[in-house]
Amino acid sequence: MHKFIVRAAFALALSMAGASCGSGSSTQKGPPPPTASPDERADYLVGQMTIDEKIQLVHGGAALDWWNYTLPRGAGGWIPGIPRLNIPDLYFADGSVGVGNAVGPATALPSSIASAASWDLNEAAKYGQVIGTELSDYGINVNLGGNVNMTGREPRDGRTFETKGEDPILAGRITAAHLKAIQAQYVLAGIKHFAFNDQETGRATANVQIDDRSGRESDLLGFEIGVNDSGVQSVMCSYNLTNDVYDCENAYLLNTVLKGDWAFPGFVMSDWDATHSTVNAAVNGLDQEQPENIYFGTSLEQAVESGQVPESRLDDMVHRILRAMFANGLFDHPATIQPIDVTGDAAIAQEMEEQGAVLLKNTGVLPLNAAQVESIAVIGSHADIAVLSGGGSAQVDPVGGPALIEGKPNPPGWSQVIWDPSSPLNAIQAKTSASVQYNDGTDATKAATLAASSSVAIVFVSQWASEGMDLPSLNFTDVIHTPPIDQDALVSAVAAANPNTIVVMENGGPQVLPWLSSVSAVLEAWYPGQNGGQAIANILFGDVNPSGKLPMTFPASMNDLPRPVIATPPDQTTPFPVDYTIDGFNVGYKWYDSKGLTPLFPFGFGLSYTTFSISNPQLTANVSGSSSSFQVSFNLQNTGTRTGAEVAQVYLGLPPATGEAKRLVGWQKVSLTAGQQQSETIQVNATDSSHPLSYWDTNSHAWLVPSGTYTVYLGNSSRNLTTVGTFQVP
Ligand code: BGC
Repeated sequence: MHKFIVRAAFALALSMAGASCGSGSSTQKGPPPPTASPDERADYLVGQMTIDEKIQLVHGGAALDWWNYTLPRGAGGWIPGIPRLNIPDLYFADGSVGVGNAVGPATALPSSIASAASWDLNEAAKYGQVIGTELSDYGINVNLGGNVNMTGREPRDGRTFETKGEDPILAGRITAAHLKAIQAQYVLAGIKHFAFNDQETGRATANVQIDDRSGRESDLLGFEIGVNDSGVQSVMCSYNLTNDVYDCENAYLLNTVLKGDWAFPGFVMSDWDATHSTVNAAVNGLDQEQPENIYFGTSLEQAVESGQVPESRLDDMVHRILRAMFANGLFDHPATIQPIDVTGDAAIAQEMEEQGAVLLKNTGVLPLNAAQVESIAVIGSHADIAVLSGGGSAQVDPVGGPALIEGKPNPPGWSQVIWDPSSPLNAIQAKTSASVQYNDGTDATKAATLAASSSVAIVFVSQWASEGMDLPSLNFTDVIHTPPIDQDALVSAVAAANPNTIVVMENGGPQVLPWLSSVSAVLEAWYPGQNGGQAIANILFGDVNPSGKLPMTFPASMNDLPRPVIATPPDQTTPFPVDYTIDGFNVGYKWYDSKGLTPLFPFGFGLSYTTFSISNPQLTANVSGSSSSFQVSFNLQNTGTRTGAEVAQVYLGLPPATGEAKRLVGWQKVSLTAGQQQSETIQVNATDSSHPLSYWDTNSHAWLVPSGTYTVYLGNSSRNLTTVGTFQVP
């Protein structure tokens, strides 16, 4: 929740006062049957409603100083229903990594970025299912999840852990899989923060400068795929400005792109206190102010009565909200409040972590041999009791309560440092009869002494991140303790003392690793969720073979970022430019390709305990203008000695005149037993919602398949590819 805005304490006014001047209350026909379309059912209700009732649905029902209150069901937002029309209450709650707000204890899933790192839409669906069922079990019928911001533009963004990485196709599809699964539980899902909300620093006044084509092919494409592939019915507009206009009153974003070009039939709600006007916001596409009624209460009613906002526009706003509720089953399938499935959902959380953790380095020390290892030093990051989680509105209150809370609550209840109750130490000890000892890592010398007397040292390093902040650097920077713990120095000291040093990282996004060459193995565990300790131990000992692939580039240095220094606001109120013309549509790996920069770890990279070979790739192209397609067929073999999964990735180089080196266009995650081989085919259609063969042509306002030579690549990371072939589009 956005709790930084200090505002005069007005009394709560729900704008319910005033005489009814509703339209259509004399309608004779009865309500359409449940089999009627959401639009027909919404139309009927709009026709029955008074203007006061309509106004009631277009703003949140929270008090102006809402952060001091708990809303019904612990929700983060709430709109009272209209009993005479059987319109149910709306209960909104966050849920990017599990149920958020003060709703109640819930399964803390691994970060969304881990879900993206699985590159597995079925796993992503299970992830969404946990969020959807647990929300529904708490009686919450609207989810504020679906964060698809392209934090690859700014990997220091404190919310990177909520997002799905730097590639619009991967991010869009993973998000859509989450959202569809949430909707399957009759919860109205949402996608956010629309759009270009890729840094937290000055997020309410950041004024992103970007051209139409660059936007369409990057941040907006992630949203377009997410919206299209899931049929999601609510979009949250963001705090920032785009090209000098606040996003929640931005006609280009809301009316031209979202409701026009994408024909989005649902509604746009503001981020919490991101509404800036009444008439402007209403006519430029905002349908619902959250969480209260500064602009869309009495002011909107007056604007409608005076004709500044046509009543037809108010009807459209209400229609969109109601049709979304019908489409997601909120009328026909009200939630049943019941206990969450603690055990089943914890198992999914663990599976997600096991599929999403990424092995970045391994000289052969992993997997550990439980029977042979003699002694293990486990060091740092409270690995004796807990794993770290990300903060802000996505924060989950983990089942069983936090193992530990650190940091100054600011304000109380928000942005605390929550450690989820899952002990890597215990899970490691349970695997082996070796002696396992713990050192808290606060004193590098003592940690190194323990490491020196152990056969293996496992150092847990952690980087807390949260909504409301960006990271000061991409090094493991301690933003929790005073004085800070120098984790880079800790790893170096341990590595100098023990040649078998393994680093396990608990963090939300890309990091730089100055000690990389001195350690034997590195596992990217992200924020691993409440069964993280068990999942990490399973990977370290080889009960699970890692198969995650990076959904974001890890740069070699912050100097390689498009904006080495984060743009910062001059004050609290003045819009300040954030220049996206620097990277344009070349976000993430496309940036590194365009600049010829070698990343520390490339997008799509991840190791396994087995080896794979990709052979005999064949390209078949069907060139036919905007309905062109192509297929890549190949043989994938597990050439190692244990079962494992590989993600075969297809990239496409569009004709060079487009200015983009290559883009991900398809992938397949395949699990194979030792020695097994399989024929695989990846099909790419120009008509797909990801527009894989097209660039956005601003002049004709359309996606075009350009003429020229297309080059098709196949491999297992964006930097380990072979050319399969080329085809021409005349
Ligand atoms: C965040 C949103 C969140 C909302 C409600 C805002 O501060 O930006 O992502 O959904 O609060 O909690």
